[in-house]
Amino acid sequence: MKKSLVAGLACLSLSLSSTAPWAVLAAPHETVTTDNGQSTLQPITSNVAVIAHRGASAYGPEHTLAAYKQAIKMKADYVEFDLQMTKDGQLIAMHDETLARTTNAKELYPNRAPWRVKDFTLDEIKRLDAGSWFNAAHQELEKKEYIGQQVPTLDEAIQFVKKHGHGKVGLYMETKAPNVYPGMEEKLIEILQKNKVLVSKNLFLESFSEDSLRKLKTLAPNVQLIQLYTGAMLKGKDMYQEFKRISDYASGVGPSKELVVPKFMEAAHQNQLLVHPWTVNSQDDLASLLSLGVDGEFTNNPDKMVELVDKPFISHGVASGDVTDTSAILWARTSGATNVQFELSTDSSFKKPFIVKTVHAGAEHDYAVQTKMDGLKPDTTYFYRAHAVSSSYTVNGSFKTAPAENSLKPLTMVWGGDTGGQGEIPPYNSFKAMSDLNPDFFLFSGDTIYADNKTPAVPNPPSQSVQDFWAKYKENRTDAGLRSLLQKTATFSIWDDHEVTNDFSGPSQPLTPTGLNAFKDYWPISDDRSNADKLYHTYSYGDTLDMMILNNRGYRDPNTQADGADKTMLGGEQLDWLKKQLLDSDAKIKLVATSVPISVPTGKANARDGWANGNQVNPNDPTGYENEFKKISDFIMEKGIKNVFFVTTDVHFAQVIKYDANHDGKTDYHELISGPIGAVKINPGTLDPTFSPESMYAEGNFFNFGVFKVDPATNKATVEIRDENGKTHFSHDFQLED
Ligand code: G3P
Ligand code: CA
Repeated sequence: MKKSLVAGLACLSLSLSSTAPWAVLAAPHETVTTDNGQSTLQPITSNVAVIAHRGASAYGPEHTLAAYKQAIKMKADYVEFDLQMTKDGQLIAMHDETLARTTNAKELYPNRAPWRVKDFTLDEIKRLDAGSWFNAAHQELEKKEYIGQQVPTLDEAIQFVKKHGHGKVGLYMETKAPNVYPGMEEKLIEILQKNKVLVSKNLFLESFSEDSLRKLKTLAPNVQLIQLYTGAMLKGKDMYQEFKRISDYASGVGPSKELVVPKFMEAAHQNQLLVHPWTVNSQDDLASLLSLGVDGEFTNNPDKMVELVDKPFISHGVASGDVTDTSAILWARTSGATNVQFELSTDSSFKKPFIVKTVHAGAEHDYAVQTKMDGLKPDTTYFYRAHAVSSSYTVNGSFKTAPAENSLKPLTMVWGGDTGGQGEIPPYNSFKAMSDLNPDFFLFSGDTIYADNKTPAVPNPPSQSVQDFWAKYKENRTDAGLRSLLQKTATFSIWDDHEVTNDFSGPSQPLTPTGLNAFKDYWPISDDRSNADKLYHTYSYGDTLDMMILNNRGYRDPNTQADGADKTMLGGEQLDWLKKQLLDSDAKIKLVATSVPISVPTGKANARDGWANGNQVNPNDPTGYENEFKKISDFIMEKGIKNVFFVTTDVHFAQVIKYDANHDGKTDYHELISGPIGAVKINPGTLDPTFSPESMYAEGNFFNFGVFKVDPATNKATVEIRDENGKTHFSHDFQLED
């Protein structure tokens, strides 16, 4: 891992202050490192290795000195040789057991099918051309020097890398098909000894064969051995136990890249095993595996990886958020201190980007940056891209601005929450299913992390330092589905309790400022919301919908406090603001985005966390916030405010509820609940009767998310609850009132 990447992974900060007793403000903090010192989603080596897979095999014929030369020129840390053995017991660098694919054996020895290496002597193999096939297969990359390239012996390959690498380039060799070549391990060790590289710390021996590696362990106890894995080899195995078992001979594991998820990283790093996935060629894949904390990667494109590990780059994707009809917040995170350039355009080829902004990424925000793009046109799709000025690696995104005020446009939004709790960690399937719906925007309804739960990012919870909180956000951003949803959809994120700690009340929870800082660092949040840390604000989608985003944590009285006229969840100012927003809104739909439910009792008895006191399950429970919700409910009915929908997650099951709080037989407002996306799955229970709820649908024990569509033309709104694969479990049309 080059110096720049080290810097990017670690940071430390803390100080606490609070002004008005009921208001919680984020405290400015000094910053030293960004590493939380416990995450298993970061390299356990100080040198993330660029391993040139079969040489720089994207640019030249694999396993030829020409391809090795390019790998060295591209500053790879290691050149990888696959080994086969000839009829006369010589080790050569070749991937396949036959000569057919990468030499002209078929032409030179037409009657020797299937041209198995073990059927040819070294002399016969040395007459082969191991380069021309590449020119034929990759005409855009063809080079004269590839014609007549020989198959190198292991000896020649080692001496070539030693000579041209000036001792800085390491060797990485795989015993391929050891069962076909008895004695291959002994031959290998003999050649390594002869070339005085056996003791080198820049040497790795790898194999899919455990027997072969255990044999090498006996022959050369101090050599670093890498156990390679395909998915089939790990199927049904407890990874932690498997890695514990192999750690008596292996220094690391080499998994096929799709196997690398947080659980894999945790199991390997907890056993002090390096993780070197194969074969990773696109910069997106290289970057996403680096964000998981791998210790090296096999790649056909060593140059692309060197560029990432050498200089700060966009490490955890991009996002857009708090989008209005004329503005958007763009977000990105880099792997180290640098400047980030954002370009915005209405054409995806960026021929003439019309806004270009550069922002500095510093350790004080864990190298996360955000910037406001203003002066945009309503109802327009914008394309943006971001890159660290130190790097050519660019990440693209897009979003659509809200329609102009007073316009009535159809809308599709998705909402979900509860991600990373009770042992659930990436990958989460729901995000891809959401993304596939091409929604106009995504409402992330809280518990976007579980700071107080054990996961690979924080194996010793609860999160204390801002680095712990940052590590949690980075952990969830390793989810490819979430990254792609954020890249192509405007997102509105709200916090709930697990962004700080379970069931917390802002003013009285010491961790609030730290959790709040990290939340603001990792979500694109407009000044409208982040000023004074209000976090509550209204976003309009033309006259189709007004979304009033609440802050259910920042101003809350303690859950244990007995309910009464003065007990508040929102704080007086926010409560007045909400009433005014509901009254002033002339949108078809008034959507109240709340992070806690109305009638599902949550939290604990005598410390209820939602509005309900749950006295249907705990008679005379003095807590909850029903007094305050009654003020909101009564206001809606008194003012005859129509088409009000409360949208939430938090309860870890899906439910759709209608309320007739004044018992006049007419529905006064609805509540739409989805989730979890990735947390413990719970079954629905009974509802607190206070506001006369009637359940229209309730289903638990499955991962799910919600879809809300509004069609002004038919004056209808539709709610859907879909499972993590996108299958609809419930759908209902609401005829809207005029
Ligand atoms: O050695 C790591 C990786 O290369 C394994 O697959 O088939 O390319 O040798 P393969
Ligand atoms: Ca290999």
